[in-house]
Amino acid sequence: MTSQIPLTRDPAHVRHGSNIGQPLTRREGVLKVTGAARYAADNHLPRMLHAVMAVSSIARGRVTSLDITSAKRHPGVVEVMTPQNRPPLADDPDAKTNPFMFRMDVLQNDKVRYANQPIAVVIAETLEAATEGAALLAPCYETEAVRVGLDAAESFVPAAVGVGHPAMVQHGDVESALASAAHRIDATYETQAQYHNAMEPHAIVAAWDGDGDSLSIDTPSQGLAMAQGRIAGLLGISPDKIHIRSPFLGGGFGSKGLMSGPQILGILAARLVGRPVKLVLRREHMYGPVGHRPPSRQRLRIGTAGDGQLAAIDHHAKVTTSTFDDFYEPAANASHSLYASPAIAISHEAVRIDTGTPLFMRAPGEAPGSIALESAIDEMAEACRLDPLAFRLKNYADVEPVSGKPFSSKALRECYVQGAERFGWSKRPLSPRRMRDDDGFLVGWGMGTATFPALMFAAEARAVLKADGSGVMETGAHDMGQGAWTALAQIAGDSLGLDLNRVTFKAGTSDLPDAGIAGGSAHTATAGSAIHHAGAAVIAKLAELATSDQRSPLFGAGNAGVVARDGCLHRRDDESRSESYADILKRAGRAEIEARGNGVPDPAAQANYAMRAHGAVFAEVKVDPDLGQIRVTRMVGAFAAGRIINPRMVQSQLLGGMIWGISFALHEQAIIDHRSGRILNGNLADYHVPVNADVPHMETLTIDEYDPHVNALGIKGVGEIGITGSAGAVANAVWHASGIRPRRFPIRIEDLVNSASN
Ligand code: MOS
Repeated sequence: MTSQIPLTRDPAHVRHGSNIGQPLTRREGVLKVTGAARYAADNHLPRMLHAVMAVSSIARGRVTSLDITSAKRHPGVVEVMTPQNRPPLADDPDAKTNPFMFRMDVLQNDKVRYANQPIAVVIAETLEAATEGAALLAPCYETEAVRVGLDAAESFVPAAVGVGHPAMVQHGDVESALASAAHRIDATYETQAQYHNAMEPHAIVAAWDGDGDSLSIDTPSQGLAMAQGRIAGLLGISPDKIHIRSPFLGGGFGSKGLMSGPQILGILAARLVGRPVKLVLRREHMYGPVGHRPPSRQRLRIGTAGDGQLAAIDHHAKVTTSTFDDFYEPAANASHSLYASPAIAISHEAVRIDTGTPLFMRAPGEAPGSIALESAIDEMAEACRLDPLAFRLKNYADVEPVSGKPFSSKALRECYVQGAERFGWSKRPLSPRRMRDDDGFLVGWGMGTATFPALMFAAEARAVLKADGSGVMETGAHDMGQGAWTALAQIAGDSLGLDLNRVTFKAGTSDLPDAGIAGGSAHTATAGSAIHHAGAAVIAKLAELATSDQRSPLFGAGNAGVVARDGCLHRRDDESRSESYADILKRAGRAEIEARGNGVPDPAAQANYAMRAHGAVFAEVKVDPDLGQIRVTRMVGAFAAGRIINPRMVQSQLLGGMIWGISFALHEQAIIDHRSGRILNGNLADYHVPVNADVPHMETLTIDEYDPHVNALGIKGVGEIGITGSAGAVANAVWHASGIRPRRFPIRIEDLVNSASN
C-alpha cells in the first residue's frame, strides 16, 4: 500500500502553535511494538484468580442442571458462580433508563435468550483449571423452538432507531413522484450479521479494595465515565469509589462503548471470592453477549425525470434485534442527507429473534445503508444511461433535503472530482464487461459516495501551566488504536502554546475529567474541543496575570492583545515584547495555574446547519469469468472531513474504513444455524475478514475543508466514514466487470457463476 500524506496548510487554521497538522507517529507506538504496552488482560495482581465463563449451547430455553460438584472437585477450582450464589445487584440488569444502557445477562436467572449467553462462571487458581472446570459443568437444557433470521417473527415499527432517530421520515410525496417518474428502479438487498471482532477480546481484572466498598478495574472501554456510572448503578456503590484504567484498547468498533455482561461478571466473581479476578473472553464468547451488527433487508425504490434528475427515493430497511432489548440498526437513514431528491421516504421495521442484542458497530446505519443506497444509485444511473459519476454530480445535495438545512461546510464535489481524477475514471466505458486484463479477467470500475454525520457529545478537560514553563492536559480519553491520544496531545500542545515535549498529556483513566465516548466518530471533535477550550482558559488566566502587572512587558496589552506561542506570551502589536510562562508564574508567586474547558455542540449552529463529513470512493475489481472469484485490485478514496489534526492517523483511519468496506462487500458474515440458533463460524478461522492478500493498492486523499460552524477547531470525524461508500464502490465495480448486479452481501462466487456466459 502506498498513499499520500498531505499536510493541512491553511495558516488560518493555526492558533497558538504548530503541532496540529503534523503527521506525527503514535506517541505510544514504541510501547506497542515492543510489547511494553499493558492491555487489560496483561495485568496480574497478587492473589488473583482466573474466571472463565461457561456459555449456553442453545439459543432459547433454560438451564435445567449444571454439574457444579464435578467442576468444584477439579484441582484448582475455587468457586462456581451461578444464579444461586451470584452476589446481589442494586439495579435490575434488564432495566433501561436511557438508550446508552445495554441490557445484560449476568446470571440473573436460568433463562437462555441467545447462543453463547453466559450461564456460569468458574473461578480457579489458574486459567487452565478454570477452563477445565467450565468444561465439566455439562449443562442440561430445556429447549424451545428458536427464532432466527429476518422472517422469524411478526415485524413491528420500532419507537426509534440508532440512538433516538425516528424510524419513519416522510419528505414530499414519494408515491406520486415514483408513479410519474420517467425512469424507475426497485431493488432489494440483503446484508448479513457481522461481529466486531476487535483483536483484543473484552477482558477485565477486578479487585475490591478495603472493606469492599471500592473497586479497582482494568478493562478496555470506549466510554469511561459511562462505564463508571453503569457499574456504580449495578453494584450500588458511588461512582467515585470506582477506578477504571483503560490505557490501551486492541480495537473497539463500538463493542466496548457500553459495559457488557461479561465485564460485570468479572466484578461479581471478584466480590464472590473476595480476591482479585481476571476474566478474559475467548474469541467464540464474543459472538453473543457483547453486541453485533444485525442483518438487514433493504428495499430501494428510486425514480428520476427523463434527464436523470432525481424525483423520489424510498428506502425501507428491515432489521433484527434481540427479544429483550432495543437496538435497531438505522440502515435507511443513509438516504436522508446525500441526494437532492424532492421526495424522500425512510422507514424501518424490526423483528425480535433469539440473538444477543445488536449494538453500534463501526458506521452503524450508514455502513449497511450505504451499500444498498449506492448500489441502487448506480443502477438508477444505468437506467438513465448516465455515467455513475455524472449522475451523482447532477444529484448530490447542497442542502440537506429532509431537514432543509444547509451543510455547515461541504466539499463533496471536490471529493468526486479529485478522487475521479486520481483514479482515472474518465477512461471508464459506460457499459459493463468491456474491460479485460492480459490474463482474461473481467475488469470493472465502480464508485460510491461516502457520508457520515459530524457529531459531538460532551467532554471536559483540565489544563495546568507550571512555574517551570511546562503544561499538563488531562481528559479521560480513549485510544482504541486509532491514534486519538496523539491527535489530542497535538491539540493540547497548540492550545497551551507549547511544543509537545513540554506537555504531559494524561488520559485513559476514570479519575480524569469525562472525555465523553470514543464513538460516533466524535472523539477528536468532542475531547479535542474540551482540550482547546481548557488550554485557552488557562492561557487567559496567564495573560491576566501578565497584562495586569506593571512589571511585565505585556502590561496593559489586554487579554486579546497577547498571543501564546513557544512557551511565551507575545504582544500582538509588537511580537518582540514577550515574556515566558515561567517568568510570569514565578513573579506572581504561583507554582501552577489551572483551568477547565468543555467540548459541547453549539446549539445555535446545530439548529441552523446540517453537519456531515463527505467523500467519494473509487474501486477496481477483477472477476474470474469462469470461477466468479472477485479480487479488489485498486481503490482511491477522497474525503472531506474538516480540519485534519494528524494526517498520518487520519489516513490510517480512512484506509481501515475502506478495508472494512471490502470486507463488507466480499467477506464478512456470521452464519447462523436455523435449527439451533447457534453461530457456526464464531471464530477468526471461519469468519472471514480481509488479510493482506485481499487488500490492494489503496490511496486516500483528504480535501482541504474549513468548517466554521461544527466546532471551534473545525474538526469532523474520520473513524467511520471510510466504510461508507466503499462497500458500494466494490459492489458497483463487480457489476461493471460482470454485468451482474449484486443483491446480497457479502457477494458470493455462486452469485457470479453466470458471468462467463453473457
Ligand atoms: Mo463506534 S460504532 O461509534 O465505536
